[in-house]
Amino acid sequence: MAIRIINVCGARPNFMKIAPLMDAYKSFPEIEPIIVHTGQHYDEKMSDLFFRQLGIPEPDINLGVGSASHAQQTAKIMETFEPVVLEYKPDYVLVVGDVNSTIACALVATKLGVKVIHVEAGLRSFDRTMPEEINRILTDSISDLLFVSEESGVVNLRKEGADEKRIHFVGNVMIDTLIKHRKRAEQTNVLETLNLEAKQYGLITLHRPANVDNEEKLKSILEGLGEISKDIPLIFAIHPRTKKNIEKFSLQNLLDSFPNIRLTEPFGYLEFLKLMANAKVVLTDSGGMQEETTILGTACMTLRENTERPSTITDGTNRLVNPWRDDIIAGWQELKENPPKADRKPRLWDGQSAQRIAKIIVQHSKN
Ligand code: UD1
Repeated sequence: MAIRIINVCGARPNFMKIAPLMDAYKSFPEIEPIIVHTGQHYDEKMSDLFFRQLGIPEPDINLGVGSASHAQQTAKIMETFEPVVLEYKPDYVLVVGDVNSTIACALVATKLGVKVIHVEAGLRSFDRTMPEEINRILTDSISDLLFVSEESGVVNLRKEGADEKRIHFVGNVMIDTLIKHRKRAEQTNVLETLNLEAKQYGLITLHRPANVDNEEKLKSILEGLGEISKDIPLIFAIHPRTKKNIEKFSLQNLLDSFPNIRLTEPFGYLEFLKLMANAKVVLTDSGGMQEETTILGTACMTLRENTERPSTITDGTNRLVNPWRDDIIAGWQELKENPPKADRKPRLWDGQSAQRIAKIIVQHSKN
């Protein structure tokens, strides 16, 4: 009997998690996958390019919700997703990560009596001011199958009283994608295009509301990065939210005073993977990049006070740095004196996670 699964994606970090699942389903002919793109991210460079590079099939449905406040965006996704679930009558709705599309679709599904699968369950920053933390806690609490990427997630879910039968430690699907595409990424000519030498530059991304929506903090972070740029050129792949706020807070002049920080548009997956692999340091507030740099063996300074991905520190190349000027400068000095060793990796980050997930779903559907 067919197992119909609606796979939800909406924002950039979701696409590299859905891609390996679509591949893994091919080994299980009984699985009938449907892709729903909510349209949370919609720019060519934030969405379509990723589908093409990662070979994800065209979405069967695009809800086209676009940007709005959290309540409006979540509500709009729910309103437009409900008729899709009613029409397609799936056995499961699978959501990934921690974005607004994740919780919105999980909530619709569970209220219609459809089983919910959460990929990347159990991660906790214990910081409830982060929108993603709320999305994680709520999604996990209503999911039937919890697929966990690192061991801390299992501990967190147990502490919250999740039934043991729901919890499956399978490793990290985003690393499946990295391993699959690493060679292809190396073949891109992004370093030549940007005139960069391997290990002679740093790479910046910033987009967390806590960092970029606050004028004083964003200014202080840019000042810290500016000091580092006196040591090493920095490529700053700018997110639409950050770009808007730099304009809003009139920080362009400050940035212009650091000629060694080069602003660029967001990159495609392959180009960005090559940039991360060859950087001397990555400076970021992204969740996923903490994991990717750990597998690539690239030093990562995470400009946050906490991380929901502690294995990247204990078993990887990541360290937390307070997102303020002086701490960023001190963090860079420390990193130069004591660069991370790249001789460990978190368990089950081996390129096989999506296969494990597909197999468990098939078993679950028989119960
Ligand atoms: C969202 C996720 C965040 C994830 C990030 C990756 C939530 C709560 N947040 O944050 O967890 O790490 O995606 O990028 O779901 N915009 C564009 N073009 C686009 C998309 C967005 O210009 O294709 C602009 C819009 O003006 C929008 C702003 O960026 O208001 C922010 O987009 P939004 O999806 O609300 O949140 P992100 O900051 O991208």
